[in-house]
Amino acid sequence: RSVGIGRAHAKAILLGEHAVVYGAPALALPIPQLAVTASAGWSSHTADGPGELSYTMTGTPSRALVTQASDGLHRLIAEFRRREGVTGGPHLEVLLDSAIPHGRGLGSSAASSRAIVLALADLFGRELTEDAAFELVQTAENMAHGRASGVDARAVGAAAPLLFQQGRTEALAVGWDGLFIVADSGTAGSTKEAVQMLREGFGRHPGAQERFVGRATELTWTARQALAEGKPEELGARLTDYHDLMRAAGLSTNTIDTLVEGALWAGALGAKITGGGLGGCVIALARPERARQVTRQLHEAGAVQTWVVPLKGLDNHA
Ligand code: MEV
Repeated sequence: RSVGIGRAHAKAILLGEHAVVYGAPALALPIPQLAVTASAGWSSHTADGPGELSYTMTGTPSRALVTQASDGLHRLIAEFRRREGVTGGPHLEVLLDSAIPHGRGLGSSAASSRAIVLALADLFGRELTEDAAFELVQTAENMAHGRASGVDARAVGAAAPLLFQQGRTEALAVGWDGLFIVADSGTAGSTKEAVQMLREGFGRHPGAQERFVGRATELTWTARQALAEGKPEELGARLTDYHDLMRAAGLSTNTIDTLVEGALWAGALGAKITGGGLGGCVIALARPERARQVTRQLHEAGAVQTWVVPLKGLDNHA
């Protein structure tokens, strides 16, 4: 084959971010309409020509984040070649076409990595198991994020909302057909910095890690139950509680808080920051009949882009 194609999508964490790094459970939502496609082929350059990676971004990536991510992606390509025994040979060229904005907690780095892994597997005609693809994505994620829990690497390939804990996943039972509205604040935050900041804070304050992880775990399990039993108010309230937990830990920003307040004011059942934090996106839960108002208010409060993700019927897009 002369060209291999791979595709992955964005994700949003419903609850559990940061705590998941310490072994707690997390709930994640695939965002199928926000995707990245990688194409891998043979470069006309020689091996000492430019690197094995070119970007075409349809989003607006920040240069620093792209550079940070691309170190991981170079490692990923090298690791794929090593594991699959395809060292040497002509120079590879990988093109990424991504609609996922960087640094917004939407899993752009994991999605890019997964798309590349699948493109390389396609090019070399290799069948990769889900676990093998996951491990390869994690080699790049660990470079981009320090120590990544793996929730992003799993969620960017998932067809339906999932529960993640310590590398394992399970499809979430969904007993209600509400909508999530994801709103981009327009400012990037570094997951690596956020994870490091939290770790340092835990180091300075004895018991803080246990309190954070304990509270996060309690909220995540309650939300999971509410989702399964179709109790939207309960689910919404736990999302907002999780926002308060993240804010108290210093992971939110004024812009993000304004978006959360705007969404709640417009009738969202709950709203919170999503992902690593220090910028990025807000996720709001709304009844279908309220979604337009919530979306409008999010834009008025400063959101630069929004995406509506229905809880049910996600598997139709897989
Ligand atoms: C990023 O989407 C989620 C974090 O918990 C980091 C991780 O799980 O590796 C902040």
